[in-house]
Amino acid sequence: MTIGIIGSGALGSNVARALAKKGVPTILANKRGPDSLAALVAELGETVTAGTVADAASADIVVLAMPWVALEDVLGGLPAWNNRIVIDGTNPVLFLEPGSPEASDPTNPLAAYGIKAVDLGDTHSSAFVAKLVPGARVVKAFNHLDVNVLPEPEAAGGQRVLFYSGDDADAKAQVRGILETIGFLPIDLGSLDVGGPLASLPFGALAMHNLVRI
Ligand SMILES: NC(=O)c1ccc[n+]([C@@H]2O[C@H](COP(=O)([O-])OP(=O)(O)OC[C@H]3O[C@@H](n4cnc5c(N)ncnc54)[C@H](OP(=O)(O)O)[C@@H]3O)[C@@H](O)[C@H]2O)c1
Repeated sequence: MTIGIIGSGALGSNVARALAKKGVPTILANKRGPDSLAALVAELGETVTAGTVADAASADIVVLAMPWVALEDVLGGLPAWNNRIVIDGTNPVLFLEPGSPEASDPTNPLAAYGIKAVDLGDTHSSAFVAKLVPGARVVKAFNHLDVNVLPEPEAAGGQRVLFYSGDDADAKAQVRGILETIGFLPIDLGSLDVGGPLASLPFGALAMHNLVRI
């Protein structure tokens, strides 16, 4: 089984790092192309290769690790999902340009963090993402922690908790297996409609909760 990761920034590189530590075959892709990933894949070892977005999107399980604003553009041009698993690691936030008027907007409670929440109206982020990957089985995971802790699932003599949610039992079982393989304690938050909003940044009640089972 190979994992494809679309996005090699803060989230994608750290998910790849966690997978690399356990030797899980991984294809990493970004916007600039495989050549730009040479140093990173050299650091991560032989189980991680650089590919195009199409390469990563063809893997058995595909992790979305790109900015919210890129989702429609990237996912609009990919081949059929054919029941494969998509792990949605994104959050519905916009990254603000430092120094821009928006970055100091007093009406934005998140401006100090350099982000702005996307108004999704009556829907939630994973329902939105699921519509962009028709035929895929979506599991929400990897999105609720500070990404820097992802390569360190063992902490304080225990195991870090990673929440996940989804609507397909088999897809969730497979994602759970991956999370266990890389050393986390996975906790199932239920369906996408229930668990997605609970663990989604910026306002989910469980977002950023960094729990460790001792
Ligand atoms: N940072 C966190 O702490 C954190 C935590 C949880 C979840 N998240 C979520 O993870 C997602 C990524 O955040 P990040 O912090 O990792 O962002 P980031 O560091 O800016 O990295 C974004 C990555 O996405 C790639 N990308 C952008 N547009 C693309 C396109 N059109 N096609 C292919 N790849 C594209 C970029 O490619 P290039 O490298 O070529 O520019 C880059 O590798 C966001 O949805 C965010 O909300 C972030």
